[in-house]
Amino acid sequence: MTVAYPRKLNNAMSARDVLTQVVQQRDIHMITLNRYRYSEQRSCKDLTNLIESIDGKSPELVKDLSHHIADEARHAMWLTDLLVDIGVSVGNPPGTSYIDEFERLLDSENISPEKAWDDFMISSLAAINVTEKRGCEYFSAHIYALKQAPQTEENIKIRETIERILPEETGHVRWGNRWLGKIADRSPEHRQKVNQAKRKYAAIEQAAFESGMDIMAGAELRRLSNLLAVAKEMPIWEQPQYLLERLPETLIAPALQMTRIQLAQRVVKDDPKMFMEKFVPMFFSNLSGIQKPQKKQETQVKAS
Ligand SMILES: [Fe+2]
Ligand SMILES: [Fe+2]
Repeated sequence: MTVAYPRKLNNAMSARDVLTQVVQQRDIHMITLNRYRYSEQRSCKDLTNLIESIDGKSPELVKDLSHHIADEARHAMWLTDLLVDIGVSVGNPPGTSYIDEFERLLDSENISPEKAWDDFMISSLAAINVTEKRGCEYFSAHIYALKQAPQTEENIKIRETIERILPEETGHVRWGNRWLGKIADRSPEHRQKVNQAKRKYAAIEQAAFESGMDIMAGAELRRLSNLLAVAKEMPIWEQPQYLLERLPETLIAPALQMTRIQLAQRVVKDDPKMFMEKFVPMFFSNLSGIQKPQKKQETQVKAS
């Protein structure tokens, strides 16, 4: 999946560009759908953990989150039904996981409901909000790409499933915006905290997203650069510990190495000539990105 759009490293491809390529290659298309399914299912678990951390302190938020979980469970169910019906694997997706990387980059040790309730609320809502925005961006690009693709029975079924999910995801973005807006209205200090959290979680999400897309040579250094961008959104006294704790895994990146090996083996098995002529040059072509970091892609969708 990752080699399908390596130009994403230079931010040259929009979500629409990526999905237009994805829908043209059935195996990659199915892997992508299974990743959506996995993320939807996983979010039920993460939101349930959040309800347990809130521990009844905000009944209103617990109520909203329980509805949110019901929505995400329904999305996972629709995608699971779809994949099983068309005979596609619903196994855990291989390779680097966006969700695991997102969680690795969170600084949850600094923010707990016991230490600072408002900070915990703001962080939790900002983290949910930014991932919901990414979901909307990709689902709407996927629908667009499927409208341009051949109108096969399978493609129509996939599009109809994603079209059922998207309006609920935009509802989740609006819900997060409302909560964050309400908290920001409490005081100038709250507003500053909300804005800071939005910037920090946007940097974390961008880093997690790019790590899932980038397996080419030099990816470790690009990850390091993203890690520094996240740290810069934190108070200065928290930055060293945050960086030191995440540095070894960022640079060694065992999941990244495994993904590279699996992909290289697959390409060699399918077409050894293509491996030497296309894959190897492509693998090293992005090394220039280390010297010249590109402007970040605008990834957020507007919540209406
Ligand atoms: Fe969802
Ligand atoms: Fe959602």
